[in-house]
Amino acid sequence: MYHESIPRIRPRHESDITDAATALVQVHATDGYPVEGVRDPKAWLTPPGFIQAWIAEFDGRIVGHVAISRPRDEAAVSLWLEAGHGSEDKTAVLARLFVIRDARKRAVGEQLMRAASEYANDIGIRLVLDVMAKDTAAIRLYERLGWQKLGLTTHDYGDGQHAEASCYVSPGA
Ligand SMILES: CC(C)(COP(=O)(O)OP(=O)(O)OC[C@H]1O[C@@H](n2cnc3c(N)ncnc32)[C@H](O)[C@@H]1OP(=O)(O)O)[C@@H](O)C(=O)NCCC(=O)NCCS
Repeated sequence: MYHESIPRIRPRHESDITDAATALVQVHATDGYPVEGVRDPKAWLTPPGFIQAWIAEFDGRIVGHVAISRPRDEAAVSLWLEAGHGSEDKTAVLARLFVIRDARKRAVGEQLMRAASEYANDIGIRLVLDVMAKDTAAIRLYERLGWQKLGLTTHDYGDGQHAEASCYVSPGA
């Protein structure tokens, strides 16, 4: 399937957006992620307050993606700040994590998480995220990497639809 056994993880460049968007559309078809759909997949890859993104490649093909961005009223940020441990300027949101189905279970997701976490540690930023209750593989990944649950929230999307989600904070440096 893939000749390389280890994914190549690197910062995303502008020229990666089209192929990363193609991967995202595949993930939406197989997993319903993101729940709000992928009407504009290229735009969705770059959330408001964007800081940095990474992509994963096998044999030069983009198979995975993750991004971090500055806080924008996310529930995970509020829960983290309310817990009294952090400040908003030292907090960022991890999101847009996905790996196409035929590249899974080869630690691509784990390596993407490690790249984002290392970067955040280097610049003294703590990461938070939210994850839908239905995305059980992602929840296992976060907990395996030592992320701690902050609490629950409700993700509102579409035409008045809601989904239960959990908020997590990274283990820190
Ligand atoms: C969540 C997601 C990113 C994980 O990607 P992934 O590349 O499969 O992640 P990993 O390979 O690091 O870990 C997945 C599993 O493979 C296992 N694994 C890792 N390397 C392995 C290897 N070499 N051989 C066998 N198993 C392996 C892990 O232990 C883990 O096992 P688990 O499912 O029992 O917990 C992917 O499932 C996905 O894109 N899901 C849909 C989108 C989504 O939910 N995004 C998160 C939104 S918050």
